[in-house]
Amino acid sequence: MTVRSVEIELARSQDIPSIALLARDEIEHGLGWRYRPEAVRGLLHDPDTVVLVARRSEPESAACKVVGFAVMTYDALEAHLKLLAVSPEHRRQGIARSLLSWVEKTALFAGVQRVYLEVRQENAPALTFYESAGFERIELVQNYYRGPGGRSENAWRMHHVLVETEAPNQGLQT
Ligand SMILES: CC(C)(COP(=O)(O)OP(=O)(O)OC[C@H]1O[C@@H](n2cnc3c(N)ncnc32)[C@H](O)[C@@H]1OP(=O)(O)O)[C@@H](O)C(=O)NCCC(=O)NCCS
Repeated sequence: MTVRSVEIELARSQDIPSIALLARDEIEHGLGWRYRPEAVRGLLHDPDTVVLVARRSEPESAACKVVGFAVMTYDALEAHLKLLAVSPEHRRQGIARSLLSWVEKTALFAGVQRVYLEVRQENAPALTFYESAGFERIELVQNYYRGPGGRSENAWRMHHVLVETEAPNQGLQT
């Protein structure tokens, strides 16, 4: 998948340091650093997890830079978008939308009906992004994120219904 000169593809081992740094600087700031390279390596090797990167080719060089990434874990009927970030200088170019579209199409293909995620209560850009992509707020989870020095932050739990399922017929006699 291509967004202008950005390629969306599965992450490889050499992407681990870039992903870990993006997680630290763009997602986990103020909360410690959980997704260090060892943790990202674990995600890459987890059979129920997909790690995607957005790569931008550098002008006048053969090098490609990781400018965004997404991590989704898949269960039978549900998936969880664990991490999503785009580097500040590459935002508002549709990169996050492309990453999300890739993991959601894969989820649909695998029979997943709902995607869940948590996002900081104060993260207005991300809340706007997810709502623009069809997610709805379902619950405000108090102190979901815990950082150093006893710091904590609330999170909005959101979901995106990919496949509508019929409500069970409660109490219906057959
Ligand atoms: C949230 C984030 C992933 C969005 O990435 P992005 O590549 O800039 O998003 P896109 O360009 O695909 O945006 C798609 C749409 O989402 C909405 N949107 C995205 N960023 C927005 C912002 N800062 N303010 C308002 N709306 C925004 C817009 O509707 C946008 O469409 P438009 O540009 O045509 O108006 C990015 O800001 C980011 O990495 N933030 C830090 C990490 C983070 O918060 N991750 C999510 C929680 S884990």
